[in-house]
Amino acid sequence: MKLPVYLYGHPVLRKTAEPLEAGYPDLKQLVDDMFAAMYESEGVGLAAPQIGKSIRLVVIDADPVAESFPECAGRKFALINPEIEILDGDTVSRPEGCLSLPGISENVPRVEHIRLRWLDTDMQAHEEEISGYLARIVQHECDHLEGKVFIDHISAIRRQLIRRKLNDIVTGKVAVDYPVRYAPTARRR
Ligand code: NI
Repeated sequence: MKLPVYLYGHPVLRKTAEPLEAGYPDLKQLVDDMFAAMYESEGVGLAAPQIGKSIRLVVIDADPVAESFPECAGRKFALINPEIEILDGDTVSRPEGCLSLPGISENVPRVEHIRLRWLDTDMQAHEEEISGYLARIVQHECDHLEGKVFIDHISAIRRQLIRRKLNDIVTGKVAVDYPVRYAPTARRR
């Protein structure tokens, strides 16, 4: 089954996601489908709210950006109920995009060092210190579980400058070359 990516303006992207309980039906199939949707849209991460499910589940495959960011080499994982602890409050700004906000790229400040705790798809607990761009991807995806998107971190001036682009997404005027679900307010669905 091909999962569409829900676009900015859809209310599910603004909900706080629920913890994922053991015994969630067909979890591994869902994770496989999320990886497939992520690869189809050439993303390096996808959070469950982006496919319309308000649960604390994220998939990441950062390997495609390993040439620029070596810490991403071979890093493919599914995160269930992830928790981030900030290890160093210094932030670095880099451009980010999001499959739910096609055509938008903005500099976002993020901390560079985190400790990440999560469950894998067998509900086994893991803990790891993560740095650099991989830490950025994790923070971006975990934001989705709190109902946040990356443009929430940019200045009011920057947001004003991309207002028209945002409006085009919300109203369904943007064309996207991967399967998407437009916001209920969009003229097309
Ligand atoms: Ni995103």
